[in-house]
Amino acid sequence: MVKTVLDDPTPRYGAEPGGGAPSKAKITFVDSHGQARTVEGEVGSTVMETARRNDIPEIAAECGGACACATCHVYVDATWVEKAGTRSQMEEDMLDFAFGVEANSRLCCQITVKPELDGLTVTTPAQQG
Ligand code: FES
Repeated sequence: MVKTVLDDPTPRYGAEPGGGAPSKAKITFVDSHGQARTVEGEVGSTVMETARRNDIPEIAAECGGACACATCHVYVDATWVEKAGTRSQMEEDMLDFAFGVEANSRLCCQITVKPELDGLTVTTPAQQG
C-alpha cells in the first residue's frame, strides 16, 4: 500500500502559535445533495487534505493529491474563484478527465489553504455523489 500525506496526521504546515498570520481558515463543503459542512483547514495544507481529514463525503482523492485522478473535483463558489487562484496546466489536463467541468471547476488538491480563503465555499459535482 502506498503511504500518502493523508496517512500522516502530523501537522506539516501552518503558522507557529503566537505568530501573526492566522493558521486556519474556515472552508464550507457543499455536497451534491446540498448539505453544507464547515470545517477549519490548516494554512499551508490543501483544500483536499482538509476534506479528507474531516471525512467530507464525495471527495475521494484517490491519488492522494498528485493531480492524477480528478476525484477531488469541486466547483468554487463564484465569489471565491479569483482568490482560489488559477489552474496549472497539469490541473487543466487532469480536468479533461472529469465530468461536468465548468468555468469554476478546480481540483481541490491544487488549492492551498491560506488566510485569504477564510470562508471559502466549494461544491462537489453531482457525478461524485
Ligand atoms: Fe487526485 Fe486531486 S486528489 S487529482
